[in-house]
Amino acid sequence: MWRTLLLCLTLLTVVNAFYLPGLAPTKFCTEEEVKTLDDKDCKTEVFVHVNKLDSVVQILPYEYSSFDFCQPDKESDDHDPVENLGQVVFGERLRASPYKIMYKKNITDEKLCTKTYKRVDDTKLKFLRDRIHEAYMHQWVIDNMPVTWCYTVANSDQPFCTTRFPVGCYVTHSGKPHDACFLSAQLSERDATYVFNHVKIMIAYHKGEQGEADRLLRAQVQVASCEKYPCSKSSKGMKIPTKKDDPMEIIYSYSVEFVELEGVRWASRWDYILNSLPHTNIQWFSLLNSIVITIFLSAMVAMVLLRSLHRDIMRYNQAESAEDIQEDFGWKLVHGDVFRPPTNIMLLSVSAGTGVQICIMTLVSLLFACLGFLSPPNRGALMTTVLVLYVFLGVVSGYVSARLYKTMGGLRWKSNVLTTAFLFPGIIFGIFFFLNLVLWSYNSAAAIPFTTLLALLCLWFGISVPSTFFGAFFGFRRDPISQPVRTNQIPREIPEQTWMTHPFISSLMGGALPFGCIFIQLFFILNSIWSGQMYYMFGFIFLAFIILAVTCCETAILLCYFHLCSEDYRWWWRSFFSSGSTALYLFLFTIHYFYYKLSIQGMASSILYFGYTFIMVLLFFVLTGSFGFLACLLFVRKIYSIVKID
Ligand SMILES: *[C@@H]1O[C@H](CO)[C@@H](O)[C@H](O)[C@H]1NC(C)=O
Repeated sequence: MWRTLLLCLTLLTVVNAFYLPGLAPTKFCTEEEVKTLDDKDCKTEVFVHVNKLDSVVQILPYEYSSFDFCQPDKESDDHDPVENLGQVVFGERLRASPYKIMYKKNITDEKLCTKTYKRVDDTKLKFLRDRIHEAYMHQWVIDNMPVTWCYTVANSDQPFCTTRFPVGCYVTHSGKPHDACFLSAQLSERDATYVFNHVKIMIAYHKGEQGEADRLLRAQVQVASCEKYPCSKSSKGMKIPTKKDDPMEIIYSYSVEFVELEGVRWASRWDYILNSLPHTNIQWFSLLNSIVITIFLSAMVAMVLLRSLHRDIMRYNQAESAEDIQEDFGWKLVHGDVFRPPTNIMLLSVSAGTGVQICIMTLVSLLFACLGFLSPPNRGALMTTVLVLYVFLGVVSGYVSARLYKTMGGLRWKSNVLTTAFLFPGIIFGIFFFLNLVLWSYNSAAAIPFTTLLALLCLWFGISVPSTFFGAFFGFRRDPISQPVRTNQIPREIPEQTWMTHPFISSLMGGALPFGCIFIQLFFILNSIWSGQMYYMFGFIFLAFIILAVTCCETAILLCYFHLCSEDYRWWWRSFFSSGSTALYLFLFTIHYFYYKLSIQGMASSILYFGYTFIMVLLFFVLTGSFGFLACLLFVRKIYSIVKID
């Protein structure tokens, strides 16, 4: 058993190592080689693409062109890459850059451009200085790989590589420097802002076999701040003057070095970045931990339920005389009420429908991701898949919602379809639109262009709404799910309950366990969302998702059984909340994360953080709630179809 499990896990992670479809290597060669090689379509120029700049202190990314850096010339062969919907919606902005690199041509101290400012309080210079204070970072891409910035950290023999590098560095009044300043002993003056105006790009390539062109393996960058040009002869950093009227001149320059690298395959060229994420062991540990908890919990649920249910059913089915029935107790007594429809069946059916939609969306995307189709080199593919699946799976939410609504005796089918199609997408789109307004007002790069917003609306009204209608049509055409027992005319009185079965308490208990099983994975997911760490271990999330589903169902069933045993038949909404409360814990966790793990400053960034978090928590609530609700529905139908009811 353990062996197979480990084998499966290993398989899942091995699969992660492939970078599959559509990502053929680009070939490179020098201009002389073009004539002699068999490969005529090899590239002689290496393009550098610049992405948006972002910071760990602010959630407002800016475009490269918002800064007064050197801009690309219009005649360049390079163009802004075409981006897919997922990239645009989730804030990637790849642009052409002014850097000119010919394959295998080393460059030393090439001047890129000079920027002069008459006064320090020039708006452009002030913008730059403020962004340096907020620790904004570049993100560059060469040949579809992130350009990494590697440095050695204390007590580690391996260099640590990140996919971002700083624009500049700032030493505060008290002499505390940004992390970026420790690079060089020169950058130590107090209350000084240094601009990194020189980059050295190192490109490692793999020499092609006879007659074949070369491939790129790595692109790394080193930054430097130099007062004078050329940079290698400068001994002082390029400091932004503090006196208001001082003029300033920044000369941007760059060097390029090509080195041959052996022993690295092209297919695993990303590994050095992924391996410098130090967390894999913790993830294994936490995952094994969760699996053990899940198995333990499953065994417990199975034992409790099977033993007590078995005993109950034996007792119920043996009772013969009228006296016996009089003295009966337990869940059988509420048989005339368990299927009495709850209040607010509209909201319940719509939420459950949406929950199933999200569940299938997540499962399918994770499956694709595990197979390597959506790995990091495939930019934006994950997000595009998620969006497209969501709109098409409107069919599922329409169907499930309609079926449940009809089963619970709902008659207003038109409102049901409309609510399914518009409630949750509407809330999400509303928040999203509001956050976009915030981004717009700050001129941020993450603000979605108007055309993309229209495209999203088209997806919603053109695909999501029709497919929901389509699903609902089939859902309403079918007969309602028939219940195993009849519902009495008059509701039974509910005996007084102990505090343990109070809906609030039992909901809180219900969410704790599923959350406990997955919170370490959640931590890594949050890290990848907010701290820009790359996440690629989709096998882990896939398993975590399964564990989440199983634990949600089990706790909800267990609580549902206890409720029914205490002759309280209002299980519909309760089962939804008892597993949905996992989302409450998630929310508390994100608040903790905000205050203790992130150092986000400013109103706008906080609004953005909590806005996105709210969307996430809402979807998570609907997802986990539906797990519990549907599991209980099946469970209740099962147990009442087994007992004899006269
Ligand atoms: C470029 O620089 C690297 C490192 O100094 C050196 O190994 C390589 O031979 C140089 N290439 C050329 C074409 O000069």
